Amino acid sequence: MLFDPISCGPLRFANRIVMAPMTRCRCDHRDAVPNDMVVEYYRQRAGAGMILSEGVPVSDQARGYLGTAALYTEAQAAGWHKVNEAVHAAGGRIFAQIWHCGRISHAKLHVDGSPPAGPSARAAANSKTFIIDNGVPTMADCGTPLPLDAAGIRGVIDDFVRTARLAQQAGFDGVEIHGANGYLFDQFRCPFINDRTDAYGGSLENRYRLLLETVDAVAAEIDPARICVRQSPYGSFNDMQPDPAPLETYPWLARELDKRNIGFLHIYDQDCTWIHDGAHPLMPALRAAYRGNIIACGGFKREQAEGILARGHADLVAIGKPFISNPDLVARLAQNAELNRWDADTFYAGGEKGYIDYPALAG
Ligand SMILES: Cc1cc2nc3c(=O)[nH]c(=O)nc-3n(C[C@H](O)[C@H](O)[C@H](O)COP(=O)(O)O)c2cc1C
Repeated sequence: MLFDPISCGPLRFANRIVMAPMTRCRCDHRDAVPNDMVVEYYRQRAGAGMILSEGVPVSDQARGYLGTAALYTEAQAAGWHKVNEAVHAAGGRIFAQIWHCGRISHAKLHVDGSPPAGPSARAAANSKTFIIDNGVPTMADCGTPLPLDAAGIRGVIDDFVRTARLAQQAGFDGVEIHGANGYLFDQFRCPFINDRTDAYGGSLENRYRLLLETVDAVAAEIDPARICVRQSPYGSFNDMQPDPAPLETYPWLARELDKRNIGFLHIYDQDCTWIHDGAHPLMPALRAAYRGNIIACGGFKREQAEGILARGHADLVAIGKPFISNPDLVARLAQNAELNRWDADTFYAGGEKGYIDYPALAG
């Protein structure tokens, strides 16, 4: 099944293997335009049934790391257009992962020097971001966020809509709204971080209001069948505390996405544990709540990927790190061929090394 094509609404994917979204920091921070190296990187990986791009910030304020490719200017859209043409010419499909880092950011990353935005004025402890200080790239503690006011919230939604429009102009097949991993939407969801007393804090409905208003606004721009939402249940990355009621929270969101006919729900297990346990109740609960396509991610090898598809708990499986070091990962998995090992030192290092120089199988 893993290597069989699948039709998801208007889209047909050559197989059920998704390249997970991965930030690689290969762009010039000043314009955040995908360059020729980025085109080549994605072209090499077009054998994936579906590529989810690296997180692309929706505004200057949304940026949280130096050198990420973005999607809020015409020049950035033109750069992504070249990427998408290359992926399509090689038979692949690609969605843009659209992203607001929220409090995982720093004033030095923003053109106007403004502090990060967040649900509340709580800085992320023990979390680093990647900035440029006096011309020198360096890791730094995240800044203290300024809570978004009503105009700021409207502005965030508008930014996602503009990026969705640019994504279509750039030829992406769809968008994934990044609701996972402790970034802006996850910060709003988290009751330990979100201390707001307005309509965006308190109840589950209120804490998911910003995400769902964004989904609705994006769905007015793009066919909902081409929208994906990513979540990371039980996650603790970026100073998050795991959700206190995951079996209530995530199925609730899944039902809301189902009502909106959103095409894809992407579930990432940061610990690579419960998602592989067929007896764990969350994936079946999501399946019961949501009729769209479920993507599962977190430590999947061929055998586990086949397992979760056979259990019926997911329709597609996203794989991350092995795609960094194996541009032809799908062919290798199909042949049970040996995989190249990834070098974590070059994940964000800039330059071609560890980016576009991993070898494909001969022939
Ligand atoms: C270098 C690197 C960059 C990543 N960047 C992102 C990102 O931009 N957005 C996101 O949602 N997840 C990001 N992730 C998480 C991956 O999408 C994926 O969930 C994770 O690597 C687990 O999958 P794996 O075990 O197959 O690697 C990143 C992971 C890595 C290793």
